[in-house]
Amino acid sequence: MYLRVTEINRVIGSGMKKSINILALVVLITVSTTAFADAKALYKDVCYACHDNSVSGAPKFKDKAAWAPRIAKGIDALVRTVITGKGGMPPMGGSPFTEAQIREVVIYMTNAAK
Ligand code: HEC
Repeated sequence: MYLRVTEINRVIGSGMKKSINILALVVLITVSTTAFADAKALYKDVCYACHDNSVSGAPKFKDKAAWAPRIAKGIDALVRTVITGKGGMPPMGGSPFTEAQIREVVIYMTNAAK
């Protein structure tokens, strides 16, 4: 198998190998921006309704002062609060999201406030 791979590499030459590497890089970048876009879309779907305007005392999006003490608790604690709900925030933030999606959005929201 090893020999055959080397043989193929020799045949297609380094130019081809280079484009395969570039292709792999493009796939990687696409995957990571998609995850980011998803979190943003989820935020814009539900969470923004309170967090864009600080409805019922919600920490406002991008408000560093409001988020700093919360970020200090760590992502896991924040995710748990959203799952159980707190004060004016219903359980799961009132969303139909999965726990994994809640986590994505929490990371997106905290990154925006750093
Ligand atoms: C109905 C309004 C409302 C919606 C919708 C909402 N939140 Fe909240 N959220 C709040 C309020 C109010 C607080 C402050 C709770 C407190 O500290 O008493 C809060 C706090 C938080 C916190 C900080 C928790 C902590 O431990 O300090 C996070 C993280 C959060 N929300 C994420 C989300 C996410 C993610 C969504 C969408 C899935 C969402 N919220 C939807 C009102 C809302």
